[in-house]
Amino acid sequence: MTKINAIISGIGAYVPEYVLTNLEISKMVDTTDEWIMSRIGIKERRILKGEGMGTSDMGAKAVEELLRKTGTRPEEVDLLICTTVTPDMQFPATANIISDKLGILNAFSFDLNAGCSGFLFGMSTAAKFIQSGKYKKVVLVGADKMSSIVDYQDRSVSPIFGDGAGAVLFEPSTEDLGLIDEILHTDGMGRKHLHQKAGGSVKPASHESIDAREHYVYQEGQAVFKHAVKRMADVSVEMMEKHGLTSDTLAWLVPHQANLRIIDATASRMNLAREKVMINIERYGNTTDGTLPLLLWEWESKLKKGDNLIFAAFGAGFTWGAIYLKWAYGK
Ligand code: UT7
Repeated sequence: MTKINAIISGIGAYVPEYVLTNLEISKMVDTTDEWIMSRIGIKERRILKGEGMGTSDMGAKAVEELLRKTGTRPEEVDLLICTTVTPDMQFPATANIISDKLGILNAFSFDLNAGCSGFLFGMSTAAKFIQSGKYKKVVLVGADKMSSIVDYQDRSVSPIFGDGAGAVLFEPSTEDLGLIDEILHTDGMGRKHLHQKAGGSVKPASHESIDAREHYVYQEGQAVFKHAVKRMADVSVEMMEKHGLTSDTLAWLVPHQANLRIIDATASRMNLAREKVMINIERYGNTTDGTLPLLLWEWESKLKKGDNLIFAAFGAGFTWGAIYLKWAYGK
C-alpha cells in the first residue's frame, strides 16, 4: 500500500490592527524600550480590542483566509483543530465556535492545549488524521488572545505577549513530502514555574482570586528561560542528527517566538546562520499558539517545494519538541 504523507498545503493568518508599543508599556509599568529590546527582543505586539471579541474571532479570520487561498469550501473540511490557551470560554471548544462562524458544517472539531507548544503538538495530531487515510482536509488553527490573561501591572510579563492567529491546511500526498518526524516531550513538574493560578477546577473564580490577581499568567522567567534554552536546542539538534541534516541542507528553523535570546541560542547550537531562522518576535511578541503559523505566513513566498524545515517550541507544562517537515509547494 502506498504511504500517505501529511503535507501543509496552505497558510492563512490574522493579527489585530492595534499596535501596543514599548513606549506605551513603559507608561503602564516601570520598564524601558531598551530593557525590552535587549532582554527579549520585542518592539511591539498586536492587541485585539473591542467588546465581545475573543480568540475565535482571530482564529476565524485566519481560517477564512486559508480557505480562500487554498480554494477550499467550508463544507469540504473534515476536521478543525484549534490550539489555544485562551479559549473563548471554558467550554464549548473554541474550535466549535470557529467552525460555526465559518459554516464548517461537515467537520468535527476540538481544542488542544499544550502551552506554547500547542501548535507543534497540533501539527503532529493533524498529520495523524491525514495519515490514517480517512480524513482529506484537516485545518489546524493556533490562536491566542494573550492580552486577556496578561497583567498590565506586572512588568515581568506585560512586555512579552501579543495577540494573533494562524492556520494551515493539512492534506494527503503520496510524494516524499510533509511531516517526516517528530520528537515531542512533556514534563508536568515544570508547571510550578508557568501557570494560571485561578479559574480552573482547583481554584474557581472568586472575589478573593480576582483581588489576588490570580487570573493572569504567572511566570518565573529565569527558570522557564533556563529550561527553554536547553530543551529547545537539545531536541532540534537531536532531530538534525537523526536525519543527517546539516546547516547546509536545512532550509529553515521555525522556532517559537518567546525570547530572541532563546531563538539565537537554539540556532547557534544548530550551527545555523540567522538568515535561515524565521524571526518576527520584534513585531508580534509571543502570541503563544500563533507564533509558528504566523512565521509560515510571513515567509510563505520564500519557501520552496522540498525545503527541509525544523519547527521547535517550548512552553507551559513544560512541553517542548521539534518537528521535521518537508515543504510541499512553491518554486
Ligand atoms: O513561551 C512560553 C515560555 N516562556 C519563555 O520562554 C520565557 C522565558 N523567560 C524569559 O524570556 C526571561 O526570563 C524574561 C524575559 C521573562 C525575563 O528576562 P530575564 O533576563 O530573565 O530577567 P530577570 O527575570 O532575571 O530579571 C532581571 C531584572 C530584575 O531586577 P533585579 O531583581 O535584578 O533588580 C527584574 O525585576 O530585571 C527586572 N525586570 C525588568 N526591568 C525592566 C523584569 N522585568 C523587567 C522589565 N523592565 N520589563
